[in-house]
Amino acid sequence: MIKTILSNVKQYTFPSLITPVFMIGEVIMEMLIPIMMANIIDKGISAGSISSVVSYGLGMIAMGALGLFFGVMGAVCGARASTGLACNLRDAMYLNIQKFSFSNIDKFSTAGLVTRMTTDVTNVQVAYQMILRISFRAPVTLITALFMSFSISSRLASIFLVAVLVLAVVLVIIMSTTMGLFQKGMRMYDDLNEEVEEDVTAIRTVKAFVRENYVIEAFRNAADNIRDVFVKAEIRMAFNGPVMMICVYGSMLTLSWMGANMIISDELTTGQLTSLFSYVMSILMSLMMLSMIFVMLTMSMASGRRIAEVINEKPSMKDPETPVTEVKDGSVDFCDVSFSYRKGSGNNVLSDVNFHVNSGETIGIIGPTGSSKSSLVSLISRLYDVTEGKVMVGGVDVRDYSMEALRSKVSVVLQNNVLFSGSIYENLRWGNPDATDEECREACRIACADEFVERMPEGYDSIIEQGGTNVSGGQRQRLCIARALVGKPAILILDDSTSAVDTATDSRIRKAFKERIPGTTKFIIAQRITSVMDSDRIIVLDDGRVAEFGTHDELMERSEAYREIYESQTSGSGDFDEFG
Ligand SMILES: Nc1ncnc2c1ncn2[C@@H]1O[C@H](COP(=O)(O)OP(=O)(O)OP(=O)(O)O)[C@@H](O)[C@H]1O
Ligand SMILES: [Mg+2]
Repeated sequence: MIKTILSNVKQYTFPSLITPVFMIGEVIMEMLIPIMMANIIDKGISAGSISSVVSYGLGMIAMGALGLFFGVMGAVCGARASTGLACNLRDAMYLNIQKFSFSNIDKFSTAGLVTRMTTDVTNVQVAYQMILRISFRAPVTLITALFMSFSISSRLASIFLVAVLVLAVVLVIIMSTTMGLFQKGMRMYDDLNEEVEEDVTAIRTVKAFVRENYVIEAFRNAADNIRDVFVKAEIRMAFNGPVMMICVYGSMLTLSWMGANMIISDELTTGQLTSLFSYVMSILMSLMMLSMIFVMLTMSMASGRRIAEVINEKPSMKDPETPVTEVKDGSVDFCDVSFSYRKGSGNNVLSDVNFHVNSGETIGIIGPTGSSKSSLVSLISRLYDVTEGKVMVGGVDVRDYSMEALRSKVSVVLQNNVLFSGSIYENLRWGNPDATDEECREACRIACADEFVERMPEGYDSIIEQGGTNVSGGQRQRLCIARALVGKPAILILDDSTSAVDTATDSRIRKAFKERIPGTTKFIIAQRITSVMDSDRIIVLDDGRVAEFGTHDELMERSEAYREIYESQTSGSGDFDEFG
């Protein structure tokens, strides 16, 4: 995990390395200043030499200025290094997510990915900056200050050791009890994000079901849980302050008392005592910083691990070494295909599927919900890989094509397809970025989308809102079909894509397919039998198996199930007039 994170420092290696150097420079200056102070008092004021006061004073100012410079540079470089790392991490995650196959995506939740790209990266960024700036600074301060004080008076310095020990024990106790709480808190952030993501995305459904109070309650719960955990953690952390104060003032009092006695017996100078006072503060402060780093580290460890998971996730599908880049025609073959969403689980959603489809044929697919219709067609454009057997397009195994070549020739209108925010033209050109306006309009004419688009005030330049919420369900479906047609695919797959379109328009779309794109192989999944009965052949799926495959007339004769569906859907329903 740490390796993955650090390998993304890349071009920010220099600022990352120089930051600790600046910080150490700052510490050294800070440590030297008390010595100057002691000299001013002992050699200047006590000895009554103004020139010493001035020269040591100037030295002190110079050191202060240098210390300030180092401090500022350290802060600037630290900020540059940590924000750069954050940027690289986001980049690496985003790039990898784009390479994910559907089965990779199934593994992470959307909310999880969003949290990883935002909150988790910010955690790592803050922790990285702290490590660069403080983790070198604190130990160096601690050791130098201890060393300096021992060189002044080992007897007095041992007071510090006692204080350090007490404080260290208390810090360890506090930290060990809070770390677990912080980790728990981060996991709860995930829950909260999931809650927000789901409810806000589906806000219309929430309102339709008048479930506002329910989701408010759920949100409050998630938020309250986070608050409770962090309050608990912070209460424990709050003991830090008083204990620190007891140690500081305890040391100071003992130091004053013993120091004063030593000055009287001439074992110590006033100046030395003054510098010891500054060192005691430095020592205890650096201990505090160290404890903070440990807390930050534990918090960011969890985040780092979650980031590394995304970056290291191997895309489950790769282009072959020497990919085929030309799809010859639109023929499709399934050879002994079995498929399971979880490889090795044995729960096949498709079993022993065998069929051949000629280029240019129109194939209807029907079957009850959950009979794996969508799963079947997802194998043709290789959204998923088969578990056994092979799927061939144009006589070539889909795994031998380059993904781009295959998917540009196999257009799928997914069951719950979405439009993106942007104009209608922009949306249509997802199908082919180079399509001309006329090609876009022609695609809309085939999909019967032209009639309502042209009625819109701005026609094809009308803006679609995010998710396509400002067009009706049927209009959205027709635009999705048009978008798939713009790429002039060899194979067109419509997964229940006209379910919200009225039957008359549905039949006009199918007629347009027949007349305008006769060479394209069409797979039409539908629940309405009227949508598939004029197809060249029809696949009846049942529980992941091909129950029947033939023309409408053959199936009417052969398949009782098909006949039943046909009769139940046509008798008395409004669809009957259509095939007459
Ligand atoms: N991404 C997925 N991960 C795991 N299982 C899945 C996934 N998608 C579908 N399934 C399972 O595969 C089976 C077939 O689903 P599929 O979506 O192919 O059915 P369908 O025939 O298209 O149904 P519908 O008519 O409702 O669209 C179902 O049991 C479903 O639970
Ligand atoms: Mg489906």
